[in-house]
Amino acid sequence: MTKQSIAFIGGGNMARALIGGLLARGWAPQQIRVAEPNADLRQQLHKDFSVPVFAHNAEAVTGAELWLIAVKPQVMQSVCAQLAPQAQQQAPLVISIAAGVTLASLQQNLQCTRVVRCMPNTPALIGLGISVLYADKNLATADHAAAEAILAAAGKTTWINDEGLMDAVTATSGSGPAYFFLLIEAMQQAAQQQGLPADVARTLVLQTALGAATMAAASDEDASLLRQRVTSPGGTTQAALECFNAGGFSALVHAAIAAATQRGKALAQGSGAAT
Ligand SMILES: NC(=O)c1ccc[n+]([C@@H]2O[C@H](COP(=O)([O-])OP(=O)(O)OC[C@H]3O[C@@H](n4cnc5c(N)ncnc54)[C@H](OP(=O)(O)O)[C@@H]3O)[C@@H](O)[C@H]2O)c1
Repeated sequence: MTKQSIAFIGGGNMARALIGGLLARGWAPQQIRVAEPNADLRQQLHKDFSVPVFAHNAEAVTGAELWLIAVKPQVMQSVCAQLAPQAQQQAPLVISIAAGVTLASLQQNLQCTRVVRCMPNTPALIGLGISVLYADKNLATADHAAAEAILAAAGKTTWINDEGLMDAVTATSGSGPAYFFLLIEAMQQAAQQQGLPADVARTLVLQTALGAATMAAASDEDASLLRQRVTSPGGTTQAALECFNAGGFSALVHAAIAAATQRGKALAQGSGAAT
């Protein structure tokens, strides 16, 4: 597996996260080829990772058995059409991380069947991402394993077997980091309003978020049980939770994720999909 070479098409944020992860997992810089049209970004990638960089996609994919397409969804169609002749010639395993771009359209535009569609999220930048993968039933077991190993460089991975769920995935884990940032932001402001200095509020909220997420991840129990366990009857936590409930917190979260799912569907049908 690590004898193969991988070509990244697009050397932006997500590509950087994955390249850093692959290098940390023992890939040699020479196995990772990156196509990036922006000269400054290209030079920076070479400086940071010592990987070969190319201005043109066609050069980057030459000889690469794995292709990872990390361009914005808006340019996906033209990038795929441009790479189609080489895809037909080389028959690579192609992974797309573009939001809202369907497997069928990737296969059609690339004229290639060995394609995996994937939805990572931004904590990939620090190796704590979650990537959800989808492929059709014809994909070989070895290709499943290869795609999974690449995305594992940026955190956890999981597969879905119904592509229709990808919009819900996008609404949950793709956009999800922003929901937690919003809660962190609101809690910091509220803590300051209660008199805590800004730096103290920041430390308390961030460490609490980290501690709660780590506890929940380490436990076999549902979050609801963990919540009940820290909620003494008539205590401070209960007072806060009653306030959340009275404001319709749970219904609001349901509505937000439903709205993001619908937006994902609409964007996928149009041309301008985005996370
Ligand atoms: N960031 C996220 O949280 C996230 C989460 C899930 C999925 N994704 C998906 O990941 C993909 C990449 O996102 P990103 O955040 O890494 O975006 P990004 O930072 O904008 O990276 C995309 C890179 O592709 C380059 N590019 C543009 N046109 C190109 C072309 N024709 N050939 C080769 N490279 C080209 C861009 O260069 P220029 O700057 O010169 O245009 C840019 O450096 C998107 O499809 C997005 O939907 C992102």
